[in-house]
Amino acid sequence: ALPVSPDIFNCTEATETRNGIPINCCPPSAAGYNDYTPSASEVYTRMPAHAVSHDYVKKYSSAITKMKNLSMSDPRNFYQQANVHCVYCDEGYPQLGFPDKKLEIHSSWLFFPWHRWYLYFFERICKNLLDDDTFTLPFWQWDDSSGMQIPSMFNDSKLSLYDCIRNPKHLPPKVVDLAYNGTDLPIDPNIQIQYNCCTMYTQMITQSSTPECFFGQPLLGGNDPDPGAGSIENIPHNCVHDWVGDPSQPNNEDMGVLYAAGRDPIFYAHHANVDRMWYIYDNVLKCKNIEDPDWLNSSFIFFNEAARPVRVTVKDSTNLAKLGYTYPDLPLSWLDCKP
Ligand code: C2O
Repeated sequence: ALPVSPDIFNCTEATETRNGIPINCCPPSAAGYNDYTPSASEVYTRMPAHAVSHDYVKKYSSAITKMKNLSMSDPRNFYQQANVHCVYCDEGYPQLGFPDKKLEIHSSWLFFPWHRWYLYFFERICKNLLDDDTFTLPFWQWDDSSGMQIPSMFNDSKLSLYDCIRNPKHLPPKVVDLAYNGTDLPIDPNIQIQYNCCTMYTQMITQSSTPECFFGQPLLGGNDPDPGAGSIENIPHNCVHDWVGDPSQPNNEDMGVLYAAGRDPIFYAHHANVDRMWYIYDNVLKCKNIEDPDWLNSSFIFFNEAARPVRVTVKDSTNLAKLGYTYPDLPLSWLDCKP
């Protein structure tokens, strides 16, 4: 078998459509790319979105404003960044060496490392535009009762962190349903918090007994998409997407559909917490990562903070110290929520 790699020189329209109209999310074209290995000298800590200072919110909001104001021909432009998600998730790229096989990184063992790299470059673009190396992305701490609603920074229509295309019934103080299946449960918010706690235990512990259960099933070069999602990708990751999206839109935009999810700034905070679950899996639960070389050698191409395309590997995503960020060690109340 061969590890997976995208063929960025043959990008095509996405497989999803909006009202029957095809979506093209190919990035500005690149003449080539360089290999990139991270080697940070400092490590900065990402913080929970509901607990950051007013100054931090202003700063993050100004980074997103700057990204939105970049020209559409600049791959660091906010909508181009959202399209990076679209192109890797909606089969815009063929697989390198397999022109008739499309690449889709969801529902496979590429889910965690791909999104880690995606946020890594998104964060570096923010640092660069803010001219502040200490800046880190916030995470939406939906696994703790203190963070189980849309963080207020994303619900202020005066900030660039706002997106109006969300389910109006799920705005604060509504408590998120981490196992949401499209129906709002008519229950007390405190019961919902208890359910969420059990959901976290089930997904992080019960359903994550092997690396493949946690990360997802192998996707090898030449394979068809969708070998199977890992525990956290299924629940709560997919459920939180669906819960935020607006069901009155044709495809539950923005958060509830792959091509548009990255247009909602809350996406990056949601995924920082998904990424934090990987950190917890490694560092708190002391569970093992996948060791298969086909996983470790799979690679992706992103535009960096200098708008240049770089190729990165899964193996370089596993050491957070090298990536220059970490997560705080917060209490995990769900560890006591064995159903
Ligand atoms: Cu790429 Cu949350 O999905």
